[in-house]
Amino acid sequence: MKKHYEIWDDDVEAILITEEELDETVTRIATEIDKDYKDKNLLLLCILKGSVVFFGDLMKRLSIPCEIDCMKVSSYGAGTTSSKKINILLDLHRNDLSEKDILIVEDIIDSGRTLSYLAEYLRINGARSVKTVSLLDKPSRREVDYTPDYRGMIIPDEFVVGYGLDYAEKYRTLPYVGILKPEIYTK
Ligand code: IMP
Ligand code: MG
Repeated sequence: MKKHYEIWDDDVEAILITEEELDETVTRIATEIDKDYKDKNLLLLCILKGSVVFFGDLMKRLSIPCEIDCMKVSSYGAGTTSSKKINILLDLHRNDLSEKDILIVEDIIDSGRTLSYLAEYLRINGARSVKTVSLLDKPSRREVDYTPDYRGMIIPDEFVVGYGLDYAEKYRTLPYVGILKPEIYTK
């Protein structure tokens, strides 16, 4: 039987990042976090849903103890442009943020709005420290001056799917990051 993602392979123009490259990248980031957070009180924060695959791979590679939690933010429309306004759909309900060093885990940074907004939001809500990690970065698309503290790979201005990233809720389960054929989102 065909794996279901082989059906989606036809919608992918090219594989941008292979499973092996993703594995190496996540391992490198985990090593950096292990070193920087060994004397801290790490709360690893998953931003649903795009970062779930990266998040799962990253957390199991960490050697230091940490807690995990999730937030969900809206990105308006199902298209290929991200929204101007960030809405929190699932918030953190904790009263221990002043003891936590939060690391926000994102799949991709594009305009920069989501990460800069969330980092500020968590600081205002009293987190002891807030840093960010983004697996992918499209710096050419930045509208807000923001650089994540940890970064996996810089990619060109292409719409990518797989490894958690979606287009209209599809393709998240692809094991690689691929460039989506433009005809999929322009038709
Ligand atoms: P930002 O707030 O513009 O930085 O947008 C970040 C969010 O936009 C990400 O968390 C993704 O949900 C979405 N996004 C941006 N570029 C892509 C892409 O190439 N593929 C899938 N989602 C993307
Ligand atoms: Mg996202």
